[in-house]
Amino acid sequence: MTHSPHFIVLEGIDGSGTTTQAARLLEHLQSRGRKTHGTREPSTGPVGRLLREILLGGHAPTGASVHGDTMALLFAADRRDHLQREIDPRLAAGFDVVSDRYHWSSLAYQAQETDVSWVAGLGRNLRQPDLTILVDLPIAEAARRRALAGRPEERYDADSTLAKVAAHYRALAAADPKARVVDGSPSVDDVTQAILKVVDEVFLSND
Ligand code: TYD
Repeated sequence: MTHSPHFIVLEGIDGSGTTTQAARLLEHLQSRGRKTHGTREPSTGPVGRLLREILLGGHAPTGASVHGDTMALLFAADRRDHLQREIDPRLAAGFDVVSDRYHWSSLAYQAQETDVSWVAGLGRNLRQPDLTILVDLPIAEAARRRALAGRPEERYDADSTLAKVAAHYRALAAADPKARVVDGSPSVDDVTQAILKVVDEVFLSND
């Protein structure tokens, strides 16, 4: 078995379950004897930390929210930092890297508040994932799951926003041969099975 490391990204609207599914995918890869590294965006680096504060409503002493252009720049800066200091070194060391969100999150979310072609330009020359899995489920179900998990309402959580984000995600997936869509509405276990099937089909036959 050769060991070319894989860069796998999970994407989906808030409440789609990418965090849970990323953890399960990592376990699966480990059980196949692969070295793995799990990560997410916003990252745990300095820009990522700032982004999480803003997403929860921080840094608005005058009541003015941070502009969409600024958010796009911060997400892009966080991604460069994440790639250079975490993703690239791990891949170079032979680890499979699974990231909960990456550039598509910027295309899908920031498109709602700034010019999407500018956002695409900010992502020029980024490392491309070997596989992107879009976990797709109805907006109402995602909202139900967020409420069930007691997650605080974040900047992009309005149903009207997430409906547009979801549509954008579907268009991205339809145009990318290295992307697969998995239905996120069944049980967590069933979604995991669907994701593992995709990953095994795409990679393990070649490993
Ligand atoms: P999320 O995965 O929901 O993090 P947490 O589980 O810690 O709340 O991501 C945070 C939010 O940031 C989510 O609403 C999507 C948004 N986001 C963007 O708008 N653009 C991006 O580039 C990224 C990475 C995330």
